[in-house]
Amino acid sequence: MEHTMSSINYSDKIPNNVNLSEDRTLQRALEHWQPSYLDWWMDMGPEGAQGFEVYLRTAISTTPDGWAQFGHVKMPDYRWGIFLAQAEADRTIHFGEHKGEAAWQEVPGEHRANLRRIIVTQGDTEPASVEQQRHLGLTAPSQYDLRNLFQVNVEEGRHLWAMVYLLHKYFGRDGREEAEALLERRSGDADNPRILGAFNEQTPDWLAFYMFTYFTDRDGKFQLCALAESGFDPLSRTTRFMLTEEAHHMFVGESGVSRVIQRTCELMKQHDIDDPARVRALGAIDLPTLQRYLNFHYSVTIDLFGADQSSNAATFYSSGLKGRYEETKRDDDHQLKGGSYKILDVKDGALVEREVPMLNALNEVLRDDFIRDSVAGIGRWNKVIEKAGLPFRLSVPHKAFNRHIGTFAGLRVSPDGRVISEAEWAANAPQWLPSEEDRAFVASLMGRVVETGKYANWIAPPAVGVNKQPANFEYIRFN
Ligand SMILES: [Fe+2]
Ligand SMILES: [Fe+2]
Repeated sequence: MEHTMSSINYSDKIPNNVNLSEDRTLQRALEHWQPSYLDWWMDMGPEGAQGFEVYLRTAISTTPDGWAQFGHVKMPDYRWGIFLAQAEADRTIHFGEHKGEAAWQEVPGEHRANLRRIIVTQGDTEPASVEQQRHLGLTAPSQYDLRNLFQVNVEEGRHLWAMVYLLHKYFGRDGREEAEALLERRSGDADNPRILGAFNEQTPDWLAFYMFTYFTDRDGKFQLCALAESGFDPLSRTTRFMLTEEAHHMFVGESGVSRVIQRTCELMKQHDIDDPARVRALGAIDLPTLQRYLNFHYSVTIDLFGADQSSNAATFYSSGLKGRYEETKRDDDHQLKGGSYKILDVKDGALVEREVPMLNALNEVLRDDFIRDSVAGIGRWNKVIEKAGLPFRLSVPHKAFNRHIGTFAGLRVSPDGRVISEAEWAANAPQWLPSEEDRAFVASLMGRVVETGKYANWIAPPAVGVNKQPANFEYIRFN
């Protein structure tokens, strides 16, 4: 392999492209964390699947073309490593009070606590989603889907490595303690939960998994894009490479939901039906249930962006730690001191727009960018329904619907954006959010399909195989 900054050293215990062997203290500290990580993986990673040989991609370079290599690997033998995108020569900070200064290669003392908090919060989501998804392998609709689940899981594990590297290298003893704590919290645990709400929810079935990877991994994309702008260069380079992997996670979600829709529409056409009960009787997921799942995952995910007005968001931006989505492409002063932004507020029982200082509204700005991106994919799902000649359309609920963070927390708002009474909410919630009965029905469809080239009845096969493999390719050797 050519020896450039992008080449990855696989002869070290921990694969890396950061010259780990030149920093013995750091190398020893990370090699000490490695067995704890593996213990966590064996405890909390995919259930009953550690002996399978899975057709996985592994990063071999950090340049965009030809960055990955595919092959059958047992998951505990996956080479989790530390990969930073190539350094940009003479990179400067693009926003905030340090705009125009050289990007930091070390943590500035005054921003240390905030940076650590940002890295820990991001890092905590990575193992959390592996924990949330650990039972799904038992009910996979095909080998292809099972392989995709495991690919997402090993890469979330690698994202944890990415954040732990930063903690170990730049935050001394505090960082090492935080790295330990990342392996100790557990998704959904009452005593020691994961940091953010959506990462303590269950992912009980495959429809929930596709919705999660569509919406919640997309939250990941927007957070990583904002961190890729950071003035702290190692964080920027780490997150830029994570984004390469993240794209596949969102693909799994978008194509997964699309295939569910496709199968449902096929059966509706074939039998000329639109009654949800009759769709269910044919063993497919009716479109109104899909809409309710969408409403749930969308609303829980947009909470992840935080309060609509936040002085922390202002501080993170002004101090150059976290930028906006596509910061460098924006045409403004990148300081935002005099700017304002319209947020929603509640006045006399109705939602009204209100202008607030832009710097305090940066969570809302990122949330709105996320919403635009999410809506685009829902348009592609609707194309599938339209093509089948059916009138049903999926849509996102109002952004005040089912919120638990920010201005709308504790408020009852319908999917079409009306502030409503508790009684109206209670009467309609089963049409708006997945009911116990919906979840039980979806769960009843989840059976394990493992025969090569076969798919569960409720989902269409993918248009193309992973890495262009043929339809009968053996993605998993079960041993
Ligand atoms: Fe991730
Ligand atoms: Fe992800």
